[in-house]
Amino acid sequence: MTKLAIIGGSGFRSLEALEIVHREVIRTPYGEPSAPLTHGRFHGTEVVFLPRHGHAHTIPPHRVNYRANIWALQQAGVGRIVGVAAVGGLHMPMAPGRLVIPDQIIDYTYGRDHTYFEGDLTHVTHIDFTEPYCPTLRQELLAAGQAAGIQLEERATYGATQGPRLETAREIDRMERDGCDLVGMTGMPEAALARELEICYACCAVVANWAAGRSDGPIEMEEIERHLQGGMGQVRELLSALVAAQ
Ligand code: HPA
Repeated sequence: MTKLAIIGGSGFRSLEALEIVHREVIRTPYGEPSAPLTHGRFHGTEVVFLPRHGHAHTIPPHRVNYRANIWALQQAGVGRIVGVAAVGGLHMPMAPGRLVIPDQIIDYTYGRDHTYFEGDLTHVTHIDFTEPYCPTLRQELLAAGQAAGIQLEERATYGATQGPRLETAREIDRMERDGCDLVGMTGMPEAALARELEICYACCAVVANWAAGRSDGPIEMEEIERHLQGGMGQVRELLSALVAAQ
């Protein structure tokens, strides 16, 4: 099995059961990753952890250096990444508190450094992105969910928005017409950059709130945090089951 990395999102800044072996500062041609990489053993398996928004959660979604993060993980010998992400749910069954392993993406982000294939190229490269997530790792996550008795939604389209503001109600209507089931701010370009470096990447999304206009009143941060606390506890169990099966 190739080395596994976990990229933690909002509500998931550390992997408690990780026995830390060392932290590694990696510099990349693209600048600094969100934090030093934490190398350790997670239930006996070698795992690398990286908090996407930094240790103190100070980096907003549109300022995350996605290229440096994925590059650093590859430098550390990582071949598989689970990207944990908080999202909004557009409709049932994507209700707050649910865990989802999406299988498609629609990218609405802009102005982010989204590719390694630019600059002094010897040839133009177009990666295949028909299936944006690694099917093997998705299946392993779904099997881990079954083994651990954690209910997972196994088909969903993740709509990646620019942030940091949340969406308008009509933007969410449009996203639903497009076919989105979830909305989040960090899914892209993370998934595409992993594919460019031929790293197997899957997303584990935790629904933190109903998307804009899908519940009465404004979206409250307190509601998001409450659902994330419960959801991230389940993510930890899911990841334990994932490594137990390796
Ligand atoms: N929109 C975008 N990103 C999010 C949301 C949302 O409603 N909830 C958590 N991340």
